[in-house]
Amino acid sequence: MEFHKDFSPLDRFLCILHLSAHWESCNFIPFVFMGQINVAIIGGGTVGGGVYQALKRNGRLIASRLGIGLSIRNVVVRDLKKKRNVQIARKHLSTEWKPVVDDPKTDLVVELVGGVKIARQIVKRALSQGKPVVTANKALLSEHGEELFSLANQNGTNLYYEASVAGGIPIIKVLREGLIGNQFPYIYGILNGTCNYILTRMKREGCDFQSVLEDAQRLGYAEAEPSLDVDGFDAMHKAGILGSLAHGFWIPPEQIHVEGIRDISQQDIQFADQLGYGIKLLASIKPLAGTKASNAVQISVCPTLVPKGHVLAGVQDVFNAVYIGGDIVGETLYYGRGAGQDATASAVVSDLADAALDLKHQTHNRIPPFSPHAEDGTVSPWEETVSPFYLRLNVVDRPGTMSQIAAILAEAKIGISSIIQPEGHEGNMVPLILMVHDAKVGAMETAVKQIRKLKVVRGQPKVIRVENFEE
Ligand code: NAP
Ligand code: HSE
Repeated sequence: MEFHKDFSPLDRFLCILHLSAHWESCNFIPFVFMGQINVAIIGGGTVGGGVYQALKRNGRLIASRLGIGLSIRNVVVRDLKKKRNVQIARKHLSTEWKPVVDDPKTDLVVELVGGVKIARQIVKRALSQGKPVVTANKALLSEHGEELFSLANQNGTNLYYEASVAGGIPIIKVLREGLIGNQFPYIYGILNGTCNYILTRMKREGCDFQSVLEDAQRLGYAEAEPSLDVDGFDAMHKAGILGSLAHGFWIPPEQIHVEGIRDISQQDIQFADQLGYGIKLLASIKPLAGTKASNAVQISVCPTLVPKGHVLAGVQDVFNAVYIGGDIVGETLYYGRGAGQDATASAVVSDLADAALDLKHQTHNRIPPFSPHAEDGTVSPWEETVSPFYLRLNVVDRPGTMSQIAAILAEAKIGISSIIQPEGHEGNMVPLILMVHDAKVGAMETAVKQIRKLKVVRGQPKVIRVENFEE
C-alpha cells in the first residue's frame, strides 16, 4: 500500500486502523491514504455507466491489486435529467466536457461518447495536455488512430483502447503482448456482438431481422447508429485495428472489403444448415499466399458460411471469438462477450489499470499504442481473394436451366461442388443453390453478372463466401 509522501509512520499506522474499521462500508477506497488517480469519464451511457458501476463494486480490490486508487471525479453526459440504468451520484455529473478535461486535477480521461467528431476533439484536447486517454471508440481509432497515437507520443503520454475490439475479450493485449513473438498467418474473428446475436436468433427462433435488432438495441449491444453494426462497418473498424496490430501498418477502413447481414434471409440460413454450415459475420485477416515478403494482406468482413463442426460456428448470441494462428504458438482461440455494459466496462477498467500504473511509474511508453514495423505493407484487392462460394438463384423450373448456368461457370473455370434444388412444378420459380469450389472473387462476380442476365434467372442472385479454414 502506498501513502502520501508527507505521512509520518504514526499517520500511516492510524490510516491502516481507519481503513480496517471502515473497510466494509466503503464503496470506493478512501484514496487519501493511497496514491490516487483522478479519472474523468466523458460519456455516462451504456459503457460509461458500466465503468462507474464496476469501479464502485471492485474499486477497492483494484486499488489493492495496483497499489494505487482510481477515483472518479467526473462523469460528463448530454442530459442531466435522463433516466439511467446505473445511478451516477449527482456530484459527479456535468454536461460540459472541456472544463473537465482541462481541470488540472483530472489525471486521466476516458472517452465514451462514441461517434467520431466530438470524440476526436476530446481525445486530442486531453492528449495535447499530456493526459492519458482510454477509449472504446473503434470508429475513431480506425479513422484517426495514426494521428492520435502520434499526438500521444509527441506529448509524452499514451492512448489505451482495449475495449475497442471484441468487448470483454482482452484481444489487444493478446496481439501486442501475449503473442508479440509471432507472425500471424491467419486471424478470423466474430467481432460484432449485435450481428452475431441477430444471426443466432434468426436461426434458433426463426425471428425476423428487425425485431431482433430492436432487442439488441434494448440490451445495449448496438451502436447509437445501428447501421454501423448490421452493415458491417463496426466489425470493419475492429478488423482494421487487429490487422494493423498484427501486420505492422495502419490499415485504413476504406481498404477493407465489407458486407453486412441485412440481406441474409431465413432461406439462406436454412440452406446453409442443410449443406452443413452456419452463417457468421466473419472478419478474415491473412497475408496473401505466396507474397508474404511484400507484406500484402487480405482483409475483409462479410457474411460467411462456416462449417458446423468448426469452433467459430458454435459462437452464439452476443459472444465474440477471435481465432488466431501464430507461426510459433500455433492455433489460439479467444472467446467472450463482445458487447454490452459489463463486458465492455471490464476492458475499459483494464486500460484504466494500465494507465494508472504508467502514471504511477512514469512509464507512458511502456506499451506503445501501435508500433508500425512494415512500411511496405499493402492491402490486397478484394477481387484477388480466392474462396469457395455459396450461390443462391431463383430460377424457372424447366429442362435446360441448370445446363445454361453450369456452362457460364465452366467458361469461368469455376467448378460446382454440390447442388440443392427443392422440388417444384415445371414452369414455376424455385430456388437453386450451388456450392462452388475455390474461385477468384473477380471471376465469380463476372460469372454471376452473366448468370443474372439469363431469362431463366429472376431476381438478384445471392453470393456468400465459404470459409473451410484449410491453411
Ligand atoms: P451510449 O450509451 O450512447 O453513451 C454515450 C454517452 O455519451 C451518453 O452518456 C451521452 O449522454 C454522452 N454524450 C454524447 N455526446 C455527448 C456530448 N457532446 N457531451 C457530453 N456527453 C455526451 O454509447 P455506449 O454504448 O456507451 O458507447 C460508447 C462508446 O463505446 C462508443 O464509441 C461505442 O462504439 C463503444 N463501445 C460500446 C460497446 C457496447 O456494447 N455498447 C462495446 C464496445 C465499445 P446522455 O447519456 O446524456 O445521452
Ligand atoms: N455494437 C458493438 C457490437 C458493440 O455489437 O459488437 C461492441 O463493440
